[in-house]
Amino acid sequence: MSIHFKRRRVMAPDIAARKGGEPIVALTAYHAHTAAIADNHCDFLLVGDSLGMVMHGHETTVPVPLELMIMHGQAVVRGSKRALVVIDMPFGTYEESPSIAFRNSAKVMKATDCGAVKLEGGRRMVETIRYLVDRGIPVMAHIGLTPQSVNVIGGFKTQGRSANEWHAIEEDARLVAEAGAFAVVLEAMAAPLAERITKSIPIPTIGIGASPCCDGQILVMEDMLGLSPEVPKFVKKFGSIGVSIDRAIGAYAREVRARTFPAAEHTYTLKDDGESGVATSIRATKKPKTPST
Ligand code: KIV
Repeated sequence: MSIHFKRRRVMAPDIAARKGGEPIVALTAYHAHTAAIADNHCDFLLVGDSLGMVMHGHETTVPVPLELMIMHGQAVVRGSKRALVVIDMPFGTYEESPSIAFRNSAKVMKATDCGAVKLEGGRRMVETIRYLVDRGIPVMAHIGLTPQSVNVIGGFKTQGRSANEWHAIEEDARLVAEAGAFAVVLEAMAAPLAERITKSIPIPTIGIGASPCCDGQILVMEDMLGLSPEVPKFVKKFGSIGVSIDRAIGAYAREVRARTFPAAEHTYTLKDDGESGVATSIRATKKPKTPST
């Protein structure tokens, strides 16, 4: 091995070391030019499988193939210089066994030179997370609302809005941390639960529709720029006509670091507050059909 390791990017252990520190700023990125802009403001860029909905018009993330993640991942790595690039493993490429997960994650890392992969699932992914980390693949976990399971869940439903759901979700968080994940995304879950998890596990939590107490925040870039036709309540639109993408992302980064985003109106409370528990418009690409009379 040559010792001339020129370190130019944030790496997974740098993100892990930010637990309890200055909030971690993250956005999704799917192509080179927006990645270059977000790179100036973000600690990591996620090539999310939400690209299937945002870029390619699918109704869920389920149809996304590995090759598409690789193509967009290559673009984001080329476009960025500093931020850690994390790539989502799409549905069907990692659930079957740890060895299949390793083969496909290694393919993604070799083809893109990204710094980590992300997998959805809590306790059911523990063996896989450990297997990948032991073999050199940094893993970000993803619990709460896991959109790849939309067909089992029955919609993009907010999680943990009844206290009796909390134990299972807290266990998911504890177990993925124990298995070696360097961070965990908490998606669309009641804010008090996200706060409890953040205080109880040793790895950074990255909230999306979770809590300002999380160790970091992420949003889908097109949602926060105001480019998506519909967005869930946890999105704040930082972009509008006349505001440059750089200014909009800069404003987002400042608000995350100051913990003024997400505000109360971007988070979910416990049930019985009259609020819908369904985050149906998460990255929706189409308006819901009006039933014909
Ligand atoms: O695919 C995606 O964009 C994600 C974020 C919502 C965290 O997983």
